[in-house]
Amino acid sequence: MCSNAFAAQSQSPIPEVESLLEQMTVEEKIGQLNLLTPGGGIATGSVVSENVEAKIKAGEVGGIFGVTGPDKVRKAQEIAVNSSRLKIPLLIGSDVIHGYKTTFPIPLGSASSWDMDLLKQSAQIAARESTADGINWNFSPMVDIARDPRWGRIAEGAGEDPYLGSAVATAMVEGYQGTDLTAPHTMLATVKHLILYGASEGGRDYNSVDMGKIKMFNQYLPPYKAAVDAGVGSAMTSFNDIDGIPASANKWMITDLLRERWGFDGLVVSDYTSVNEMIAHGLGDLQAVSAMALESGLDMDMVGEGFLTTLKKSLDEGKVTEAQITTACRRILEAKYRLGLLEDPFRYSNEARPEKDILTDENRKLARKLAAHSFVLLKRHQNILPLKKNVKIALVGPLADSRNNMLGTWAPTGEHRLAVTVLEGFKNVAPEASITYAKGANITNDTVMAKNVNVFGPKVEIDKRSPETLLNEALAAAKAADVVVAVVGEASEMSGEAASRTEISIPDAQKRLIRALAKTNKPLVLVLMSGRPLTIEEEYELPVSILQVWHPGVEAGNAIADVVFGDYNPSGKLTATWPRNVGQIPVYHSMKNTGRPAAPVESTQDAEAFQKFKSNYLDAPNSPLLPFGHGLSYTEFEYSDLRVDKSEIGADETVTVSVTLKNIGSYDGAEVVQLYLRDVVRSITPPKRQLKGFQKVFLKKGESKKVNLTLSPDDLKFYNSDLEFTVEPGEFQVFVGTDSNAALKTSFSLK
Ligand code: BGC
Repeated sequence: MCSNAFAAQSQSPIPEVESLLEQMTVEEKIGQLNLLTPGGGIATGSVVSENVEAKIKAGEVGGIFGVTGPDKVRKAQEIAVNSSRLKIPLLIGSDVIHGYKTTFPIPLGSASSWDMDLLKQSAQIAARESTADGINWNFSPMVDIARDPRWGRIAEGAGEDPYLGSAVATAMVEGYQGTDLTAPHTMLATVKHLILYGASEGGRDYNSVDMGKIKMFNQYLPPYKAAVDAGVGSAMTSFNDIDGIPASANKWMITDLLRERWGFDGLVVSDYTSVNEMIAHGLGDLQAVSAMALESGLDMDMVGEGFLTTLKKSLDEGKVTEAQITTACRRILEAKYRLGLLEDPFRYSNEARPEKDILTDENRKLARKLAAHSFVLLKRHQNILPLKKNVKIALVGPLADSRNNMLGTWAPTGEHRLAVTVLEGFKNVAPEASITYAKGANITNDTVMAKNVNVFGPKVEIDKRSPETLLNEALAAAKAADVVVAVVGEASEMSGEAASRTEISIPDAQKRLIRALAKTNKPLVLVLMSGRPLTIEEEYELPVSILQVWHPGVEAGNAIADVVFGDYNPSGKLTATWPRNVGQIPVYHSMKNTGRPAAPVESTQDAEAFQKFKSNYLDAPNSPLLPFGHGLSYTEFEYSDLRVDKSEIGADETVTVSVTLKNIGSYDGAEVVQLYLRDVVRSITPPKRQLKGFQKVFLKKGESKKVNLTLSPDDLKFYNSDLEFTVEPGEFQVFVGTDSNAALKTSFSLK
């Protein structure tokens, strides 16, 4: 029995595909390796394909993206099947990163829900809506591990951790592809960006990556592999080089690792013009880099047309072989077969579907729920939250009534006009509240930043009124209110692709507003939006409550109001560490101990005094401001009675870890119970602790429950110096609790 859609349809050779290949000229085979974008959607590179219709007719196109709507897709397929010699239908791609029209929170937000069922459901909805609009191939999930919040694309992934990242990758692939890829509501998924894109130097997008294999295999590769194990049908190479060879021509990565070691048999597509970009990387001219890419195992060239324009010449000159071209073409045709396109090119062109399947009430309901689950209560000050619904509120801040910043980065198929603002959400959820709105400040007063952010449309609007006028208006509203809610943070395009920052604080214009509001001595709640961890040490010290809401998607305002007014008790947990300052980066929970640890091995409170000749800083503690896994609730949870069911096990045995969780506060609520493991002695220096299990548990107030978490034999394994996935005997320490500083501890040993 095959458990996933791709494996179930993987019997190669596929007679339909082989018979097509027999009829194809070499030019037609090369044509299939070409992915174009006729424009219309948002292009992420500077190039947009030209003469696409003529190229489709000439059999020079294998797929297109940026074209949506069943009518338009039908037209494109008609050109392919009526006018090209072999009538081969097109793959229709798209970036459906966090929902199609029903936009869910940015992926870093969704992952903070730690709720894999909800994530899977969001992917199912994204697939249903996308396929209703003609799309059959999604360029998602993005599973790059990111430990540098300067990198804007941290917003697009699940954060810093390989274990959680693998769970998210699996849920998303299963959600998009379902169990039958030919079904009209499922689509081919793409795991991206292979590999290590999130480790670009200095957090600057597209930058080089240089990483040893031990770190790579243990920390960065697991989510890609998890997607492959879940049966993902395609993989996208990254822009960066890996050990000197760009991913799109990296034979070790594409062929040795992905195909041979992991057994991936889907298609590999380049990123946007990443084949051509190898010219700038310094590897040769277009013909040379295209030949290198094909030889490395790359099947499809996105937008750049290097394959289309040079492979025939390389073949004639003996630089590539026809067998290599045929192999790449076979993989693309197999994907079309698996989607059912060879049988029915119009499978995803049903004009009746958009109205039935897109933006339904059900879909929006899930978007609202997932958003509420994604919010992280960073700080609780007194019992200001949740707010009563009949209070007098000053709702201030540049993001409080901003529609254009709710969807978040990389939502090219979403529509801003559909998004619910925070002001609207407050009115919907608490109609009896008295709400005075004031903008208070611009998102930023930095005109260069504003110009750079606004490339894809107005996200940062610099108000004509002076900063003093804006501020005074907010202060007047604050003074007249019972409570102040300030919606502050980053514009949506301050994170995402090509949106790296060297400073990751709240912009100065807003810092000034927050300081002034704090001085009014009114109860103050910060609703913080961002696509990355921010450095908020100053704001954290103020007497405020802080709710981190990322960029929440189409139901933004409603979901925020649900949480602020207590209809949903926040349960999200950070999936990336929040540093105190940029100088601490990289800082993540699974760091190693070093030979000169600054604090005792078990201690997680390293705000101790500076120690000479220890691994620490002169000017700041080692500990981050907020650890991985952090997230508060309106209620309190108590952990007790941590146990393991066996104190000694063999290498193929499981261990069940149990803990009693009790809701000892005054609200019902959910807690994400987290399990961290430390392999005390092994042949490769171990991290201090690593996430190896979690469970989201809902408890009514006063209720308690015994929670069981099972460690499988694989959970104890690691990649050793020979890159074997193995386990070594010895002691394992187990920590369970509310975040990565979990203090409850037990242990077991492996014979
Ligand atoms: C991004 C990819 C995306 C592609 C197509 C690139 O710039 O890196 O993630 O899938 O564009 O839009």
